[in-house]
Amino acid sequence: MGMRFKDKVVFITGASAGIGRATAVAMAEEGAHLALAARRKDRLETLKAELEAGGARVLPLACDVTQRDALDAAVAATVEAFGRIDVVIANAGFGVSGAATKLDTPDYRRQFETNVFGALDTLYATLPHLETSKGNICFLGSVMGRMGLPASAPYNASKFAICGLAESLYYDLREKGIAVSVINPGWVASEFRSVNNQGVRATEQHKEPIPQWLVYPTEKAARDIVQCIYKRRFEAVITGHGKLALFIARHFPRSTRWFIARAVRGKLDKVERAKRGDLAQ
Ligand SMILES: NC(=O)c1ccc[n+]([C@@H]2O[C@H](COP(=O)([O-])OP(=O)(O)OC[C@H]3O[C@@H](n4cnc5c(N)ncnc54)[C@H](OP(=O)(O)O)[C@@H]3O)[C@@H](O)[C@H]2O)c1
Repeated sequence: MGMRFKDKVVFITGASAGIGRATAVAMAEEGAHLALAARRKDRLETLKAELEAGGARVLPLACDVTQRDALDAAVAATVEAFGRIDVVIANAGFGVSGAATKLDTPDYRRQFETNVFGALDTLYATLPHLETSKGNICFLGSVMGRMGLPASAPYNASKFAICGLAESLYYDLREKGIAVSVINPGWVASEFRSVNNQGVRATEQHKEPIPQWLVYPTEKAARDIVQCIYKRRFEAVITGHGKLALFIARHFPRSTRWFIARAVRGKLDKVERAKRGDLAQ
């Protein structure tokens, strides 16, 4: 650790909570200037005050990643304020899940608008600046971008799309000197499981439904992300349980499917509740 991103300009979507917020804090500790995008600007203003007290320069940007105009305006404001963009972290996302028979195509479209097209628009809005800086684009995937799980088809599909996108972009953008990374976390502490299928957050404090001992600290996830970007590595799987699950799924795919299918038979609603508690869909 040190000032590995001193005076680098880092643009993060979904910086108002969870992994994006923690990554902003970690990048500020590494000397970066930050352009922080999310819909809840009040939260970004609070984070700005916190980070500027530590010496960072911070630009809060009200931006919905499903609106390309808003992203273009956020990027223009960033370049006006800081003159360049070195690192882009396409992190904004949420989860649409539930038994597939209870969902329909609009659920998948809503999921892809944010998790896939929002990430793609983040890339294309910043690409000219990344070409100039020969910087990094980092996508937030998931362990569920590498293995399928029950009652999760829209989210699973969106994260498989992110992993496929990143893997192809790796070659194309390498030609331009841009490093592509994809971060695939398991369960990380955040507000992720308090957002419903419509993208609406629980208004009251929502209890984390995943057992505490399995949930990886957000600050550690942020440090792993910073390290992956700094090393210009392609992929980082975050969390011990995520690494173990992917190892087993990759090497024993048939047994994995048999085991999971047996474990959830007739219990898909229970699986959904285990992931998000009693949050209204
Ligand atoms: N936590 C986990 O266990 C986990 C595991 C694997 C992957 N991930 C991935 O990690 C990323 C971050 O999730 P998190 O866990 O940090 O969740 P989180 O605490 O709910 O934070 C999500 C962030 O995304 C922003 N966001 C959502 N929709 C947006 C939109 N349309 N436009 C702009 N910003 C938007 C939210 O800000 P506003 O609401 O203020 O806009 C918020 O800052 C996601 O891509 C998620 O899929 C998380």
